[in-house]
Amino acid sequence: MEVFEVHGGARLCGRVAVAGAKNSVLKLMAATLLAPGESTITGVPDILDVHIMAELLRRLGAQVTFRADIGELTIDVPEHIGHQADYDLVRQMRASIAILGPLVARVGVADVALPGGDAIGSRGLDMHMAGLEAMGASFTSDHGYLIAAAPKGLHGAAMVLDFPSVGATENLLMAAVLAHGQSVIDNAAREPEIVDLGEMLIAMGAQIEGLGTSTIAVTGVSVLHPVVHATVPDRIVAGTWAVMAALTGGDITIDHAEASHLEIALDKLTDAGAYVEHQQGGFRVRMDRAPKAVDVATFPYPGFPTDLQPQFITLNAVAAGASMVTENLFEARFRFVQELLRLGADVRIDGHHAFVQGPRRLAGAAVQATDVRAGVALVMAGLVAEGVTTVSDIHHIDRGYAGLAATLTDLGASIERVTLTDVDLRAGNRQPVHL
Ligand code: EPU
Repeated sequence: MEVFEVHGGARLCGRVAVAGAKNSVLKLMAATLLAPGESTITGVPDILDVHIMAELLRRLGAQVTFRADIGELTIDVPEHIGHQADYDLVRQMRASIAILGPLVARVGVADVALPGGDAIGSRGLDMHMAGLEAMGASFTSDHGYLIAAAPKGLHGAAMVLDFPSVGATENLLMAAVLAHGQSVIDNAAREPEIVDLGEMLIAMGAQIEGLGTSTIAVTGVSVLHPVVHATVPDRIVAGTWAVMAALTGGDITIDHAEASHLEIALDKLTDAGAYVEHQQGGFRVRMDRAPKAVDVATFPYPGFPTDLQPQFITLNAVAAGASMVTENLFEARFRFVQELLRLGADVRIDGHHAFVQGPRRLAGAAVQATDVRAGVALVMAGLVAEGVTTVSDIHHIDRGYAGLAATLTDLGASIERVTLTDVDLRAGNRQPVHL
């Protein structure tokens, strides 16, 4: 087992370049299933989830080549593709559910194991299913598999989501592009990753209007063709670097990032005392004073992103003042607070509110990552804690942050990826023993 060993105290300074968004590229990969032939996706991050999705597509019959050095994926989709997504892959990554819409649309049937992924709440599929049912699919379940069938093909439908779900909007959009007739998805999610997916589908020949708004209208077409598409930059990774600059009193220029996708989060950093400078192709965040605590509440885009909530709790823990952080999307996303408390943070949870009292001086300890964003938030806490913090279960972090330790080292941090020996593990020790 590997852990990150972080020595606190560094000011992070320098430049980072952000790759394409995890939460976009996984859906772009699923969307290639809609057209036989070879599609190419660029700007692809070398993260675990991309490898899992690549394997899932291979098992459906696609040939997938990932050149991680240049961030380029080629996916060659055969005329006839499989329709079963194995449990062992799907349980590792909830985003696997993104193949449901494309498979039903293209093959007329999909057997997808019920997904796993982050341990951050119930994360139902009711809106995905209701939308596909409105388009003519029917669902059954069998031995842990969800089976969708539309033997006569899908037809267009008017759909109103109960909530602007990212995953449901994407699945329904990918199904509607090949459905017969017109579809309207109302109360659709507006995330930049949805716009990215929609733009790729349009380049494949789809007819879509209203991307980036709450009403997406689709006129189905009978065939789509393969494309070359560049992934939108990862706003959550960019935002994570921005919070790191503010947290460590640092100065980081974030290249290949879209500040307009992070408006509220960057405003919050300004409120915390940071300077945010917009630049060509990115932005710079620097901090020359002690941070002030800021209240945040997560909402669907363009609201404050849930995927930056744990990072802001870490910032607030060491910032001056009391703050309230409200989580409106994933009920279990405060689980990591337990771990932050081990470092000396003062956080009380009441339902979906976290009350953070700062400033606290954090002190290094052994902590455990519970999901990708929680994991990075704990590494961040380690950066400002006195002494050594050991973060275990870092496979969660690998799901969303490529080469985190190397980039942090370049920025001046002291962090190492350390392998625990079997002896450590047998002794129940999650911290490396240095002889
Ligand atoms: N929900 C339902 N029923 C549904 C669909 C969603 O109840 O049919 C609920 C979920 O249980 C959850 C809420 O609605 O409480 C939001 O779910 P949504 O569908 O919007 O999120 P998602 O598609 O499951 C994606 C990202 C998440 C990100 C959210 C919100 C991917 C692979 N995941 O999840 O990313 O937090 O949108 O922006 O795109 C992460 O990267 O750390 C991460 C968790």
